Amino acid sequence: SQAQVFETEIGEGGELHQVVGKDVDTLTTQQGVPVADDQNSLKVGPRGPTLLEDFHFREKIFHFDHERIPERVVHARGYGVHGRFVLNESLADYTTAKVLTEVGEETPMFVRFSTVAGNRGSSDLARDVRGFAAKFYTKEGNWDIVGNNIPVFFIQDAIKFPDLIHAAKQEPDRGFPQAQTAHDNFWDFISLTPESMHMIMWIMSDRTIPRSFRFMEGFGVHSFRLINAEGKSTYVKFHFKPKLGLQSVAWNEAVKINGADPDFHRRDLWDAIDLGSPPEWDLGVQLFDDDFANSFEFDILDATKIIPEEQVPVKIIGSFVLDGLVDNFFAETEQVAFCTQNVVPGIGFTNDPLLQGRNFSYLDTQLKRLGSPNFTHIPINQPRGCPVHNFQQDGHMAMRNPKGRVNYEPNSWGGPRENPATGYRHFGAEENGRKAQVRSESFADHYSQARQFFVSQEPIEQKHIGDALVFELSKCERIDIREKMVGHLLNIDAGLAKTVAAGLGIETLPEPAETLFETRTDLPP
Ligand code: HEM
Repeated sequence: SQAQVFETEIGEGGELHQVVGKDVDTLTTQQGVPVADDQNSLKVGPRGPTLLEDFHFREKIFHFDHERIPERVVHARGYGVHGRFVLNESLADYTTAKVLTEVGEETPMFVRFSTVAGNRGSSDLARDVRGFAAKFYTKEGNWDIVGNNIPVFFIQDAIKFPDLIHAAKQEPDRGFPQAQTAHDNFWDFISLTPESMHMIMWIMSDRTIPRSFRFMEGFGVHSFRLINAEGKSTYVKFHFKPKLGLQSVAWNEAVKINGADPDFHRRDLWDAIDLGSPPEWDLGVQLFDDDFANSFEFDILDATKIIPEEQVPVKIIGSFVLDGLVDNFFAETEQVAFCTQNVVPGIGFTNDPLLQGRNFSYLDTQLKRLGSPNFTHIPINQPRGCPVHNFQQDGHMAMRNPKGRVNYEPNSWGGPRENPATGYRHFGAEENGRKAQVRSESFADHYSQARQFFVSQEPIEQKHIGDALVFELSKCERIDIREKMVGHLLNIDAGLAKTVAAGLGIETLPEPAETLFETRTDLPP
């Protein structure tokens, strides 16, 4: 930025004013009226009351009073940067989406990294999941992968999300802890929610204390669909693989860094880009069909399960670089609105009950958070690769209304029209069954993949998981909750359960937790 030239003038009361010299813009009100004095409000004499007539003073204070908007109900603390995606291998056999078929084309992106539980002002190195949300500004509209750095989730059905988040965030009476898993409500909920056990193994691993955003993987988590020109659907899971590899810190480092520099992750990303070493990721996909889905031992609609890469390898199809800093944190990072429902032709949804709930939740919360259905008019949320034409109009802060006299269709005046050839088509999945509040049977196996994850870890990583469980559970005051957790660990790995029990001073091991309790899979008569 250019240094500006000011001259100094002595005011009527003897105070110094900085006034316009050469090459400097004149300060104005929001109405564009030039301001002569930005230091003194209008008064009746030097000691008299301030006058309402001072429109500049009133406008300035009024605007300041309204600067804050609600923070995100989750993922409040985040950091966003711009990037570019380039496709290296076409998925034309599987999808019509141009972003996944036009090899060599560059698609602009915006990515926001975040923690989940902490408030906006919490610290970066909390033991927590990291959000990894990516917006692709494609030629066919905005496509969002609203992912995390962990490939599975705590719960299988979105109806449980408010409870999970209430239990994870600060306790309502005391307002703490802001960003830690070390508290009674969290472990109470987890100990009563066995479907969370796979995720808990990841949460207690080094994945949740990453060295920096640059050394993290990202996952779309759910099974989505790709739909090709013949209307055939293939299931897909999305993966982001960091070219720098994975790195985490140790817990004692995390604690020290949080104390010394709570902005450690955002500073790291800013510095890397500012100094010319922008981080890069590969975009990978796991592709599979109905035959695989039907033969796989778990339901591919269950977001607490992965599809092992040995069974379905990750195919790398392109890469992205994050090399653009924001001009304004609030305008871009705070106001960006991601949504799992932002998909483009050739990409579709599955019936994953967590995804279905998310598809409702993001749009709903953003109306509250950004204050108007017109949040798509904010530059960071506007499509960049294609025009926008429709008959939606008005509402708070409308910047983009229909042009001319026509705002409806069908009409005989003209204006945009639906296009069956290029427009978005929902996949015509066949559905039948009785309405019931149930899940499919394999959803009830809560421990197999938790065990697989634990045994796949190196001995030092297993030790870290044990240490983390002892540390976090030792902060939980209710002894019965600690014991319940050991009961779950017995279903995962007896060695781990014994280590944690010993670390917590539990002398007699509890019974293993009942495996099938809580998940209803049977249809009522
Ligand atoms: C925000 C990921 C589950 C509701 C976010 C963000 C990410 C994310 C990355 C931050 C977006 C940003 O940076 O602006 C995930 C993943 C999930 C998951 C990977 C599971 C696989 C859910 C569920 C719900 C939900 C089940 C609700 C039913 C929300 C809400 C926000 C949010 C309300 C705030 C959005 C905003 O204010 O813009 N989620 N989430 N999430 N998520 Fe999720």
